[in-house]
Amino acid sequence: MVDAQRLLSREMDIDRPCAARIYDAFLGGGHNFGVEREFAERLQSAMPGVAGVFRDNRAFLRRTVEHLLARGVRQFLELGSGIPTIGHVHEVAARRTRRFSVLYVDNEPLTVAHSRPLLDAEPRAAIIHADIREPDAILGSRDVANLIDFSEPVALVMSAVLHFVPDDDDPMRLVRAYQDAVVPGSALVLSHLCASEEPEPMNLLAAFYEETADPVVARPAEWITECFGAFARQPPGTCYIGDWRPEPDQPPHRHPRYRILHGGLARKP
Ligand SMILES: C[S@@+](CC[C@H](N)C(=O)[O-])C[C@H]1O[C@@H](n2cnc3c(N)ncnc32)[C@H](O)[C@@H]1O
Repeated sequence: MVDAQRLLSREMDIDRPCAARIYDAFLGGGHNFGVEREFAERLQSAMPGVAGVFRDNRAFLRRTVEHLLARGVRQFLELGSGIPTIGHVHEVAARRTRRFSVLYVDNEPLTVAHSRPLLDAEPRAAIIHADIREPDAILGSRDVANLIDFSEPVALVMSAVLHFVPDDDDPMRLVRAYQDAVVPGSALVLSHLCASEEPEPMNLLAAFYEETADPVVARPAEWITECFGAFARQPPGTCYIGDWRPEPDQPPHRHPRYRILHGGLARKP
């Protein structure tokens, strides 16, 4: 059972900017409100070029999904998906193959409401309203079972989400719970705000997010690497997400001013 109390604790809040719609605003999407656009403008003024981090993460997501599809992984469970537009997982998959399934999870009610119509016409993708801090509820959910077969490899996608989970909720325990639920050949794609490489801009960004509905906790580079646990990290390992297998015809990171989001991809042996 999904923990209703936990979901109710995250009420609909359109007075404060929220992470999913801030992200959408930075990507130039149409699923955000004035509060998020105003927040994005102020953040961009304080940290010129910060939009590049959001774009680099979306490009990282695309490259990791393409990498996995090329290696036969067809199922994706994205935990903390935001609004799946502008080159999200199911769109990348649909360009490559007819055989895929994507289950998105988010705990922000309006994000889920915005997402459902986008997925209506795609039987191979769906979103559920759930909290990733409840792995048993998610992994045991009938909606998940309708799309994801856990006897086959599954790509767990935790892109720019764990930094919203406070230490008290033991984010590392959550990662392990999801990792334990998947068979060998499965994968973990993860990106996370990093406190190590550029602490000053990182602190500034965190101070901005304090005024949102989704404050962030940046963590050390070693902690982010540790998230992959016993999974085998694929080269180049954990790094600034723009540096993860950049395409030859694309500069590694077009906006390299803030290397504050680290991540990688690892496979379950
Ligand atoms: C910055 S967005 C990232 C979206 C997407 N993963 C991507 O990389 O494009 C983070 C998303 O995680 C969601 N989120 C944060 N904490 C969550 C939780 N405990 N359970 C489910 N979703 C969560 C937020 O609502 C938001 O939509």
